[in-house]
Amino acid sequence: MPHKEKAKTPNTDPIAANGGEPGITREHWGSRIGLVLAMAGNAVGLGNFLRFPAKAAANGGGAFMIPYFIAFLILGIPLMWIEWGVGRYGGSIGHGTMPGVMHRIVKSPIAKYLGVLSIVLGLLTAVYYSYIESWTLSFSYFSVTGRYNEIPGSDMVEKRKEMGRFFKEYLGVREKLKITRAATVQEIAAVSECTNASEVPSLLKYDAARDGEWNPYDSRLDQSKRPFTEIPLRNKFFQNNSTAYIFFFLTFALNFYFLYRGLSAGIEQLGKIGMPILFIFAIILAIRVLTMGRPEGCNWSVIDGMNFLWVPKFDQLGNAAVWLAAAGQIFFTLSLGQGAIQAYASYLSNKDDVVLTGLSTASLNEFAEVILGGSIAIPAAVAFFGPAVTTDIARSGAFDLGFQCMPLIFTKITAGWFFGAIWFGLLFIAGITSSVALLTPPITFLKDEMKFSHGKAVAAVSAITIIFSHACVFFFEQGLVDEMDYWVGTFGLVVYALLEVIVFMWIFGGENAWKEIHKGCDMKIPRVFYYIMRYLTPLYILGLLFAWGIQDGWGILVMQGIPVENRPYIWACRVGMLAVTALFLHFIWKRFHDDDKDSYWLPTVLWGYPLLILIASYPGLLGIDTNGLLLLAVSWSAVLILCIYVIYRMCTIPPRRHDDFPEETETADKPAT
Ligand code: PHE
Repeated sequence: MPHKEKAKTPNTDPIAANGGEPGITREHWGSRIGLVLAMAGNAVGLGNFLRFPAKAAANGGGAFMIPYFIAFLILGIPLMWIEWGVGRYGGSIGHGTMPGVMHRIVKSPIAKYLGVLSIVLGLLTAVYYSYIESWTLSFSYFSVTGRYNEIPGSDMVEKRKEMGRFFKEYLGVREKLKITRAATVQEIAAVSECTNASEVPSLLKYDAARDGEWNPYDSRLDQSKRPFTEIPLRNKFFQNNSTAYIFFFLTFALNFYFLYRGLSAGIEQLGKIGMPILFIFAIILAIRVLTMGRPEGCNWSVIDGMNFLWVPKFDQLGNAAVWLAAAGQIFFTLSLGQGAIQAYASYLSNKDDVVLTGLSTASLNEFAEVILGGSIAIPAAVAFFGPAVTTDIARSGAFDLGFQCMPLIFTKITAGWFFGAIWFGLLFIAGITSSVALLTPPITFLKDEMKFSHGKAVAAVSAITIIFSHACVFFFEQGLVDEMDYWVGTFGLVVYALLEVIVFMWIFGGENAWKEIHKGCDMKIPRVFYYIMRYLTPLYILGLLFAWGIQDGWGILVMQGIPVENRPYIWACRVGMLAVTALFLHFIWKRFHDDDKDSYWLPTVLWGYPLLILIASYPGLLGIDTNGLLLLAVSWSAVLILCIYVIYRMCTIPPRRHDDFPEETETADKPAT
C-alpha cells in the first residue's frame, strides 16, 4: 500500500518508507488510482487532442500510423519504464531530478551538470505551454458567450479566413494584406482602413524578392522607392491582446493554486477530478462527431475522415520525415524526456509497482490520443472541408485545426456553443494537468537539493515561468513560441531521453536497472524488452537525432526562413533559455561542488560557451556578415564534440557512489540467471 500522507503538509512526512536513506523525507501519492490519474493527466495533454491530429493529417493520415505504433513500441513503452524506474530509484535516495541521481551513480563530475536538462526542459516548455493552455480557457468562454458565432463570410473558405483573423487578433497579431503590385500610399490607406494616409508609411514592409533582403537595421533604406508587399490591417475583432493576457494570468493562477496545494492535495486531486471529466467530454465529442454523417451542403462525411486517418498508405513508409514526426509525437505525448514522469515517479515507494502502472499510463494516453483524439478534430474537419483542405489546415499547424476550424464547425451544428465549450474545456483540463507536471521537476529540484520550502519553491518556479511567458505573450508574432517548442519540446527532450537511457541502462547497469524496475512489480516485463531498452531504444534515438540534424537542424540553427527583422527576438529568446539553464547550473554547483571539489569553471563552461557562440553569431544571423555563420558552424561542432566526450567519459569511468547493488556493479552487463 502506498504511504498515505496528510494534505498540505509537504516535506514533513517523517517516514522514509521508500526504503531509501534514513532521514529522507518525501511526499507520497495518496492512492494508486490517484497516482494513475495524475500520471495520465501528466501524459494526456494538448498533444493528444491538437498535436496528434495535426501531425497525423499533415503526414498523410494512414501513412503516419505505422511509424507511430513502431515508435510507441520501441521508444514509448521502454522509455516510460526507464523514467518510472529512474524516478523511483532517485526518490528512494532523495533526488527527484537527474542532477542528484547523476551525482550518485556517475563518477564524472561533469555528469550532474548535464542533468540540468531534466529541470529546465519542463520549465521552459511550461513557459509557452501554459500560454497555449490559456487560449483554450478563453475560447471555452467565447463558445458560451457566442463571441465567434458572427464570424462573417459567405462560405466555409471565407469564414475560415475570418476566423484566422479572429484568432490572430486575439493573440495581438494584426492581419496583413498582401499587395502584389506597387501601390500609392493613398490606395493602401483605402484598403487597410487606415484613418489617414499618414499612418501608412510606418506600417510598411518592403519586398525582399525585388530588392534583396532589407531589414530595419539597414541604413541604406530609402522609404520612398520600394514597392510594398504586405500591410497590417486595422483590427476587427480584438483591439489588442489584453483578453489573452487576462486569461493567461487566470490560467497561471490556477496552475499555481494546484501546485501550491502540493502533491496529494493538489496535483492528485486535480487528476482525480479532471481526468474523468476529460474522458467524459472527449467521449461526448467523439460520439457527436462520429454520428454527424454528411453535414448539410458538404461533399464529404465523417467516414471519409476515418478513412483518411486509418487506411494505411504503405508507399509513404520510405519518407524519413514521417518517421521523425511519428517519433517526435510519441515523445511529446507520453511526456518523455522532460523529467516530468521521473519527478512524479520519485514520489513512489519501493513497494509501489512501476511496471504495470507505467504501462497503464501509457495505454490510457494512447486511448485518449488514438481513439478519442483521432475521432474528433480530423473526421470533423474532413467532413466539413474535405481531405485536401484538411491536409492543408493540418500543415499550417495544430492551432489552425483547433482554434480556427473547430469553432467554425461548432457554429454549424445544433447546440454548437455547448460542444464548443466542452471541446475547449477538454483542452483546458488536458492542458492544466500537463502544465503542473511540467513545473514539477524544477519545484522538486529546489525542494530536494536546495532545501527550499514547498511554498518558496512553487513561488520561485512560478515567478520564473511568468516572467518568461511574457515574452511569448508579447512577441508571439516574432515566432518565440515556435522557437521554444523546437528547442525544448522537439529537440531537447530527445537528447535528454538519450542521456537517461545511457545513465540508467548502461552506467547504472542493465541488470541493476532491470531489477530496480521490477521492485514491487505486479507483472514481469518480457525479457525481450531488456534488449530493446539497452540497444534498440538508444540506437533509435541516435538515428533520430542524426536524421533531424541533417533534415532541419542546421536550418533552424541559422534561422533560415525567419524574417530578418524577427531574428533579434529569436536570438534573445535563445539567450533567455540559456540564462535559465545557467541559473540552474549554478544551483547544481552550489549543492554538489563540495562533494566533488568542483571549481566554478565546470558549470560556467556549459552555459558560457554557448553564450559566446550566440554573441558571436549575432551579426551573422542578421545577414550582414557571413563570417558569423562560419564561426557558428565551427563553434557548434565543438559543442557537439564536447557532448560526445562527456558521454564517453561518463560511460568509461566506473560508478563511484553506486552502493545499492554492490555485488552487481562488477557484473552489471551480464544477464541475470
Ligand atoms: N504529454 C503532454 C501532452 O501531450 C505534454 C507534456 C510533455 C507534459 C512533457 C509534461 C511533460 O500535451
